[in-house]
Amino acid sequence: MNALSRRELLSGIAALAAAGALPGSRPGRAAGRPALPIPPELRADAEGTVALRAQPGEMEFRPGVRTPTYGINGPFLGPAIRVRRGDRVAVKVTNGLDEAITLHWHGLKIPGDADGSPYNLIRPGATWRPTLEIDQPAATCWFHPHVYPATAELVIKGLAGLFLIDDAESDALGLPSRWGVDDIPLILQDRRFNPDGSFFHRFNLVAVTAGYVGDSLLVNGAAYPEARTARGWLRLRLLNGSNARSYRLGLSDGRSLYVVASDGGLLSEPVELKELTIYGGERYEVLVDARNGRPFDLVSRPTGQMAMNLPPFDGELPLVTLRPDGAEGEGRLPDALVQLPPLVAGLPPVSRNLVMQMLLDAQGMDLLKAAGLMKMDREKKTDPAVVKAVTKLITDGPALPLDQQLGANAVNGTPFRMGAVSFSAPLKTDLRWLISEGSDRMQHPVHIHGCQFRILALDGKPPPAQMAGWKDIAPIEKGGTAEIQVRFDHPAPREHPFMAHCHNLEHEDSGMMTDFSVA
Ligand code: C2O
Ligand code: CU
Repeated sequence: MNALSRRELLSGIAALAAAGALPGSRPGRAAGRPALPIPPELRADAEGTVALRAQPGEMEFRPGVRTPTYGINGPFLGPAIRVRRGDRVAVKVTNGLDEAITLHWHGLKIPGDADGSPYNLIRPGATWRPTLEIDQPAATCWFHPHVYPATAELVIKGLAGLFLIDDAESDALGLPSRWGVDDIPLILQDRRFNPDGSFFHRFNLVAVTAGYVGDSLLVNGAAYPEARTARGWLRLRLLNGSNARSYRLGLSDGRSLYVVASDGGLLSEPVELKELTIYGGERYEVLVDARNGRPFDLVSRPTGQMAMNLPPFDGELPLVTLRPDGAEGEGRLPDALVQLPPLVAGLPPVSRNLVMQMLLDAQGMDLLKAAGLMKMDREKKTDPAVVKAVTKLITDGPALPLDQQLGANAVNGTPFRMGAVSFSAPLKTDLRWLISEGSDRMQHPVHIHGCQFRILALDGKPPPAQMAGWKDIAPIEKGGTAEIQVRFDHPAPREHPFMAHCHNLEHEDSGMMTDFSVA
């Protein structure tokens, strides 16, 4: 450490924050690279119980700057819960915070009363005890709170974690599977900090329009960390745990990503890509050939997503450095993965249309347009005046009155309302649903509870290969559609309906959500 006083350091960091600069945006920055935190695996104990406790904490994301946080069994984020197909897991979620939470098991096929939706509120001091019967293929799922309308804020503060399912079929494939050695979890999140070090979050016009626009990237809660890994094939378990941001991921030296799994499990065969776009809430498992032992960065490139290309996101941005200089790797890249069930022949016509709509978008867009955002997004260039104006809208735009926030977005014309239960779906029946973007404005990663579905078509065309397997999020672009084959194997009574919503958490908390029963 050099001779900078703590005070100078703090003011320097405040200045950086004010300028929208990012900690760790300089590759090769010499000193003080944090090690990639690896969330501890948490398996059920001898009684079959998994105990979780939501608690307040504090983190130093930047040296000397303290940020109040929430975490599960720790100060920020949570453990990686690890179960096997066929397990019956008794989960115990204790709320050690002084506000209500829920924990939603994102991607799990379980009944509505165990789902952790806004209808499973856990009051401060209370303990919720759902039993999760795991009957679905190996997958990288996750958990996070789902309180209406506070999901976005609770996730920002740090409540999220991985939920991994193993099964015999995936064990047999010989994929890299040594946790933190060649099987590396990477939770991608963006954040923005207030001058006092606390997380910025506010429901203003920009938030309900574009969603949360951070200026710093965290991977497993660390800014541009570095991971020492095995030398061999690496398996990266990617979770986009950001509130609103999508990432266009690649590797700094141009090597390939081999996608082996999507949200709900393994694909039929690896999909080789140079770039992989991951939307909010999505997971992908990718294999990377690191047998040559040379270090590389996982990087994110500009996406064209509204407001998200503000500096420092206007160029290639490193997320994490992988240094494969450890022990010889044991995993491999198989030619074939699993046999996905064929798509259902003779699926009935579309029986449900879910239209994502933005009701307050005109006002939000006008503001952003006036600040010059459209020009910036189109030309991907950084006119400092535009950057300043747009940043000011994000950070200084006043919070909307609650009724305006809750009515800003909608599904099928109606903003979400607790208890409305908009429709019902038949149990154990293969269905064809259509999801569409109804405002011709921007992308929405649409998530449906209680199922894993198959995307039949995106904008009328077959989905890209990495989206042809099990999915619980259908990302639709501006004006786009997704047609899915979906089936609910578990009931959801009216008191505990399933949710369908945009996984841009600011959209979700401002009305772009609906709920339905299954019987
Ligand atoms: Cu990951 Cu309804 O959410
Ligand atoms: Cu949305």
